[in-house]
Amino acid sequence: MIFNYRINKVKKLSKIITLIIIICLFSNGNFIKVSKNSSLSEKFKNYFFVGAAINKDQILQKDEKSNSIIKQNFNTLSPENVMKWMFIQPKPNIFYFDDSDKYVQFGLDNNMHIVGHALIWHSQIADFMNSIKDSTEMMQHVNNHISTLVNRYKGKVDTWDVVNEALNEDGTLRESIFLKVLGENYLETVYKMAEKHDSSADLAYNDYNLCEPKKRKGAIKLIESLQKNGAKINSVGIQAHWQLTSPSLEEIETSILAFSKLGVKVMFTELDISVLPSPWDENGAEVSQNFKNFEGDKKMNPFPKNLPNSMKTKLAERYENIFKLFLKHKEKISRVTFWGVTDKFSWLNDWPIKGRTNYPLLFDRNYKEKKAYHRIMNLNMPNN
Ligand code: XIL
Repeated sequence: MIFNYRINKVKKLSKIITLIIIICLFSNGNFIKVSKNSSLSEKFKNYFFVGAAINKDQILQKDEKSNSIIKQNFNTLSPENVMKWMFIQPKPNIFYFDDSDKYVQFGLDNNMHIVGHALIWHSQIADFMNSIKDSTEMMQHVNNHISTLVNRYKGKVDTWDVVNEALNEDGTLRESIFLKVLGENYLETVYKMAEKHDSSADLAYNDYNLCEPKKRKGAIKLIESLQKNGAKINSVGIQAHWQLTSPSLEEIETSILAFSKLGVKVMFTELDISVLPSPWDENGAEVSQNFKNFEGDKKMNPFPKNLPNSMKTKLAERYENIFKLFLKHKEKISRVTFWGVTDKFSWLNDWPIKGRTNYPLLFDRNYKEKKAYHRIMNLNMPNN
């Protein structure tokens, strides 16, 4: 009797389990999201690299939960800050390589495509550079910086952002210290310098707002002039600090087509999508902008606890549409990198207004995959 009773119980239980499995499998993602791939990089591996910018704690392996997301989901890394001039060479010829060495080692250990960001950039530069007025002196420092970094990581860093943000919004050249002291030719010179020290690394031009018509035109002109003058340039990095509705998919597509026509690969290098109101009319990522008068303003920080479902869906749809477009142009795109791993540490919590709660990435503050992640993972893939 007892024996029979047990057998019946086991049978009943196994029927329930089978039923649950069948519901999961045939729900087509409506009840429970069943992603066929286990990770983002795996999903897109036939088309382009997928990566993230990583911060110091992640480089030093102090953030276990982020590190496991990184290892599982990404096959390319960018250094969020540790390779920037102010950190790596704060004083003339005094280099600090501890963090950048660990960053590169992390990439090597995990067989990832390693990005160097950024050799020449007017922001986050060492103070001493800002006071140099003499072109020969500045060129010596530029040469020393580029040759030291590129040689140290020769054969290890796969792509260098040689120049970051050299353009104004109207497409003219930005009046950076480099332009002011060295003149227009600095662009061609620094690309040639980087190539000289590692001829097999890919060399990129990186900037924000490259889906805005005027700036896109300026970038095309810049790339064409590098090409005409015999400087090597392999790719253009569209930073992609975007909003829910801007730039439009049409403008993004126009940029993909326009840049690839020049013979360079297109990369989306700093993808994140802000869901918060913006304090100014112009979009972008000018890091020096900081709207102090808005700090603590509740209107500017509407979701301090969590993101309402309707907004989660909007973000997911935006990501889905963007990745559909990336897949449509998969042979023109070589890399898609998110600017951060989880919402918790996104720079958009503190820029352009400090102390807000933003939700721009695919993993939430509890390191969980968001709706946007699942939408991307459930995209139908092209047949070829
Ligand atoms: C940002 C970092 O994420 C922040 O931590 C830092 O305080 C400022 O810079 N464009 C770039 C990146 O090329 O290097 C910037 O990164 C974001 C805008």
